Amino acid sequence: MKDALLKIKSLANDELSKVNDTKALEEIRVKFLGKKGELTSILKQMGKLSAEERPVIGQLANQVRTEIEESITNRVKEIKALMLEKKLKEEELDVTLPGTKATIGKLHPLNIVLNEIEDIFMGMGFDIADGPEVEYDYYNFEALNLPPDHPARDTQDTFYITDNILLRTQTSSVQVHVMEEKKPPIRIISPGRVYRSDAVDATHSPLFHQIEGLVVDKGITMSDLVGTLELLMKRLYGDDCKIRLRPHHFPFTEPSAEVDVMCFNCGGKGCSMCKDEGYIELLGAGMVHPKVLSNCGIDPEVYSGFAFGLGLERIVMRRYGINDMRLLFENDLRFLNQF
Ligand code: DAH
Repeated sequence: MKDALLKIKSLANDELSKVNDTKALEEIRVKFLGKKGELTSILKQMGKLSAEERPVIGQLANQVRTEIEESITNRVKEIKALMLEKKLKEEELDVTLPGTKATIGKLHPLNIVLNEIEDIFMGMGFDIADGPEVEYDYYNFEALNLPPDHPARDTQDTFYITDNILLRTQTSSVQVHVMEEKKPPIRIISPGRVYRSDAVDATHSPLFHQIEGLVVDKGITMSDLVGTLELLMKRLYGDDCKIRLRPHHFPFTEPSAEVDVMCFNCGGKGCSMCKDEGYIELLGAGMVHPKVLSNCGIDPEVYSGFAFGLGLERIVMRRYGINDMRLLFENDLRFLNQF
């Protein structure tokens, strides 16, 4: 019996050394130590032994059981370590390899400059106002002192949804919304898309962008308008930039002016870029017409205001020396990636 026990021990060790996974280990445990296992079947024969032999064999059997159990535990540890090592090898990661670069989009030049302009005005205490692009005739024209049949409507033909709903031709419509909704002091700019039924060419597009400005308070004068625009242009084009006002007519301002900015190409001397003018037309502006104020429920005897509307495309084109507006809308990455 002693031999049989020792044989079991060496057999178990033998099998354990060949095993490589935990499932097979469990099978070995059952085979040698389980209820129907080899060790148990030997112990069952203990009754046949003499009284002297029994404790000796019993002790040996226990010893064999403990040894096999220990071997199994050790083997489990070894196999787990091997499996971990294998897993680490498989998942090896070289952190020194260059990563795959995510392509990051960038802002469109129109948005780059718009953000700049918004920052400049917010720095002067202006809020940013928003208004609808699909607009009633009333807000786009009538409230702005352009009744039906007013000749100035001809220059702003647009796309009509119904007789009285249209795609706005100017952000000036937002002036009316703002003045209807809040009382002075008002200090806003309102950037957005506007539409006109113009054919596409280097300087025209049926969709373009304007930035409207409106300030209404007690005692607002033309010099506030000039100071505000001067500051804007110096921030945009540099400290030695000058502006010039020319008398003009807009139905919603009185007096009205067109505002030119000194040609940054020639510094006012005159060149091909400014057609020898020395100045380039950039925006329309003026003092808000008393009729417009009262149309919006603001007493023109108490309050006055100035307004202006500038074309964003024009400013962007001047800023970057772009000579064809179509480039801004074609979304050609070769062009856009330059900004
Ligand atoms: N809305 C005018 C246009 O589209 C531009 C403009 C002129 C806006 C004078 C104004 C203004 O607010 O006071 O041509």
